[in-house]
Amino acid sequence: MSNVTLVDVFKHRITQKYLQRSGINHAVTVACYAYDLSLEEEVDPDLATKSALLHDMGHYEWYRDGKWDYEEYRRHDIHAIKGAERAHKLLIRLGESRTTAKEVSLAVLLHTDSYLPFELKGKRTALQEVVRKADEKDEQPQGLHHYKEMDKSEALKILHQLDLAVAKAKKMP
Ligand SMILES: [Fe+2]
Repeated sequence: MSNVTLVDVFKHRITQKYLQRSGINHAVTVACYAYDLSLEEEVDPDLATKSALLHDMGHYEWYRDGKWDYEEYRRHDIHAIKGAERAHKLLIRLGESRTTAKEVSLAVLLHTDSYLPFELKGKRTALQEVVRKADEKDEQPQGLHHYKEMDKSEALKILHQLDLAVAKAKKMP
């Protein structure tokens, strides 16, 4: 079993830096959805929740006149590519195995195909599909889900509960 927890991942300064941009609320909410979906789909809940928590860490903001220009952002978006690289680097630094780091990195890379010139429908693994579905459940038009608020202390409380649930689920036969 992995001894790197969601709380460890969340507290790291790299996560703190990048999750501020895409929104802590969205990341934590998607991790909760991914946990539920992972049990339904019989996917490793540890991989699913870590991938979900980090899925948008490649995001950057695209401001114009003090406002985020969502259309402009979409046109130049490569957040899944950046996120995949950042998630991998972060997990390796935290002592995660290279196998886990790669699985999570791929789930981040493929959680959306909005930046690709082709569709990924039907091509994702079960884990990648869980992360895509969990993200979709929290999405709002015009990227508004990135602006929902959540205190760091509230996020830590939820993630600690998720860590306990993941540890328990992994012990089940
Ligand atoms: Fe997202």
